[in-house]
Amino acid sequence: MKNINIGLIGFGTIGAGVAKILLENDKIISRRLGAQLELKKIADLDVTTDRGVKVPDGILTTEVNEVIGNPEIDIVIELIGGYEPARTFVERALNSRQSVVTANKALLAKFGNELFAAAKANGIDLYYEASVAGGIPIIKTLREALAGNRINSVCGILNGTCNYILTKMGDEGADFAEVLKSAQELGYAEADPTFDVEGIDTAHKLALLTALAFATEIDFAAIHVEGITNIKPVDFAFAREFGYKIKLLAIAKNEAGRIEARVHPTMIPKEHMLAKIDDVFNAVFVNADALGPSLYYGQGAGMMATASAVVGDLVDIARNLNSDNLRRIPDLSFQENQIKPGNYRPMSEISSQYYIRFSAHDKTSVLSRIAGILGSHNISIASVIQQGGGDGDAVTVPIVMQTHKALEKNLRAALDEIDQLDIIAAPTAVIRMESEL
Ligand code: HSE
Repeated sequence: MKNINIGLIGFGTIGAGVAKILLENDKIISRRLGAQLELKKIADLDVTTDRGVKVPDGILTTEVNEVIGNPEIDIVIELIGGYEPARTFVERALNSRQSVVTANKALLAKFGNELFAAAKANGIDLYYEASVAGGIPIIKTLREALAGNRINSVCGILNGTCNYILTKMGDEGADFAEVLKSAQELGYAEADPTFDVEGIDTAHKLALLTALAFATEIDFAAIHVEGITNIKPVDFAFAREFGYKIKLLAIAKNEAGRIEARVHPTMIPKEHMLAKIDDVFNAVFVNADALGPSLYYGQGAGMMATASAVVGDLVDIARNLNSDNLRRIPDLSFQENQIKPGNYRPMSEISSQYYIRFSAHDKTSVLSRIAGILGSHNISIASVIQQGGGDGDAVTVPIVMQTHKALEKNLRAALDEIDQLDIIAAPTAVIRMESEL
């Protein structure tokens, strides 16, 4: 049986998972592939730490050039993460005509256009299933299974750390800092959680999904990004009263060629499929014209789930190699000459329903003044809740409103005015509400 040789760079948790699958499942893989995937070399600066997987002698090396540019290695797996040296190594592998599998969404969100161009120029494959939603096969779904559909929208919960934190805040009424600390203790959040909790990791993934769905260049800068650090326990209580849950959603919509791509905390009706995705799980909700709505759910991170996606990509490329058919599937689903810069709708032009929480001094006429300003900016109020207070003008009370659909720029103009009023004690909190995903 023919051997297809694999080289891995970056022997961390996912790398160890990939090695484990390749060593333990070699028979079932070769029964599917009709060839043997052989893990020839693993390059990492640290080749002494025990990763819990016993690799054959002679495989580990600290010399990356034993993988990159080594003519014996057919496919390179990049699991270093981050921008450099991953970008340099991936470029060198592609320019050495080695196909590449990566899980690196940050790299592709920023440099994907040029890396895919290099893959095309060299006539080889650059696969990236593990970069979005870990083990969930969403790239394959968009590139292959839904190739007959026009995609209207792709929305997802793409960050397990944030979903865990929001689930716990909702269930336990705990505040953000407290839940983040426990998530770090459990290993669900990084020591530096910035990319996760500020929504950046989710936006990296959405940049790829948007390009795949709508035939656009990858454009991370076009995505509006807000994280979860300002959500308060009281917001979960009000969301529950309205029949909603709060999720960090990645939203990409295409309305007649105008694209919205945004990441922000979102209230969604508790009956919606995405509202039921809790803890560290990820899910992607796709609305396509022929299929209709569909949901892809599973583990978006973790050693074996992510490694499963990496090995799936290896098998795909190995099948292409076997049949002399590299680049069988276009990198971003559409033929390269069909991919154009996206026509993005600016955030000020989007329309949404809004949850608004005012911190107001409990004085007479507060409600009428707020409502008057909202009305003057064409914001129509759907419901109001005011709790507590009522015993003097030093008391601050939350006043919560749910609006009908309104333009973001009108809402911002109204809130700029309202937040100047002497009756307002703290900046007003806003969460977008989405019922039409
Ligand atoms: N930090 C990411 C998450 C890992 O929490 O989902 C996968 O990208």
